[in-house]
Amino acid sequence: SKRKLWGGRFTGTTDPIMHAYNESLSYDQRMWAQDIRGSQAYARALVGCGILTAEERDQIVAGLDRVGEEWKAGKFQAAPDDEDIHTANERRLKEIIGAVAGKLHTGRSRNDQVATDMRLWLIDEAAKLETLLIQLIDVMVKRAKAEIDALMPGYTHLQRAQPIRWSHLLLSHASYLSSDLSRLRDLRPRISVLPLGSGPLAGNPFSPDRVAIAKDLGFLSVGPNSMYNVSDRDFVVETLMWASLTAVHLSKLAEDFIIYSSAEFGFMTLSDAYSTGSSIMPQKKNPDSLELLRGKSGRIFGQMAGFMMTLKGIPSTYNKDLQEDKEPLFDAVDTIGRGTQIATGVISTLEIHPAKMRAALTPDMLATDLAEYLVRKGIPFRETHHVSGSAVRLSEERKCKLSDLTLEDFKTLHPAFEEDVAKVWSFDESVERRDAIGGTSKRAVLEQCDTLEKNLKAQ
Ligand code: ARG
Repeated sequence: SKRKLWGGRFTGTTDPIMHAYNESLSYDQRMWAQDIRGSQAYARALVGCGILTAEERDQIVAGLDRVGEEWKAGKFQAAPDDEDIHTANERRLKEIIGAVAGKLHTGRSRNDQVATDMRLWLIDEAAKLETLLIQLIDVMVKRAKAEIDALMPGYTHLQRAQPIRWSHLLLSHASYLSSDLSRLRDLRPRISVLPLGSGPLAGNPFSPDRVAIAKDLGFLSVGPNSMYNVSDRDFVVETLMWASLTAVHLSKLAEDFIIYSSAEFGFMTLSDAYSTGSSIMPQKKNPDSLELLRGKSGRIFGQMAGFMMTLKGIPSTYNKDLQEDKEPLFDAVDTIGRGTQIATGVISTLEIHPAKMRAALTPDMLATDLAEYLVRKGIPFRETHHVSGSAVRLSEERKCKLSDLTLEDFKTLHPAFEEDVAKVWSFDESVERRDAIGGTSKRAVLEQCDTLEKNLKAQ
């Protein structure tokens, strides 16, 4: 245990199972670049404290660059006693530049170091997630514009309800994702808070210029309280919550498309690139991409719930429980990132079948329009709803379409019906009448495209 960085007070050796249980290098090594950036910024700050000379700083910064090159080339050799990315990088730095490496950790603890690395890592990853989400929404908006004329049934309770544009459905999902994009951006000021310069818990006795460190590393603000700074993982929780909600939205979208691509609906066909076959049934083409999108939402939510349980009941400041922040965060970020890409791929390559969509429209879906026809003649809606309901019942009794009832039939239900009732039976006009902001008319859908595109550009 003499080789461990904290080995000074220990005489016995670590149980090998304890070592495996305790180590985090196997998964926190993905923060190697952030660990090095953080250490380099800290070395620069230590010059101002009189701890390092400019020359020592340069040695440390250059040495850390070499450690980084080893990671980048896949040549970094972990030593048996490396516990985590922080101890591994410092051990290697000492091998490269010698004893001066031992000055780097002055006033610093792995407690403020790991929190800094995590935040730096997440700032970088959140920017990537933002780009992926923008690409997804962009594909949806482009499709919505290109296929604006396709009409389909809109459903409530999975029962045919009213005619809508296919684009309108697509943009309903894009609207969820656009809120997710805004929420992701909202996280940034709370992720981008600098912990470094807090020491293990009580603060740093060498007075590093924390504002300068924040600027150096690109943090938006400086953590306000050293005890809070080393233990706050709310930024992890918030990201997991964000990922959980975004995953729920991708899952809902997936569920819609799974249903609509079934033979029973036949509204769309998934491209081969995102489908798989059956090992026994040769005819099968399964929407595995969408099913995984739906299924992985459970996993992401689980990471969130699990980490909340980890946080609950930890006493103040750093406790090793907090090492359990990494795997859920890494996994959720990876999973939601891949899911976003899969959704983009599925949506940009699927084929819709507008004729089948239109064929699924039935005149009874215009029963609301029939009631609204009478409203336009001055009859109160509650009354017209009832009249239209009677018309539906009559058509069911006659086993005919609602649109096959004659003007005489309608007149027996209400005297205000006239010749122009025939115009109610146009699905295109039904859709076009829904022209208020957010409706399914062509104008209103194109307006939604504009609104979504504006949010893609914001910030
Ligand atoms: N690997 C640890 C983690 O991820 C680093 C911090 C360890 N600090 C400590 N005092 N043991 O949380």
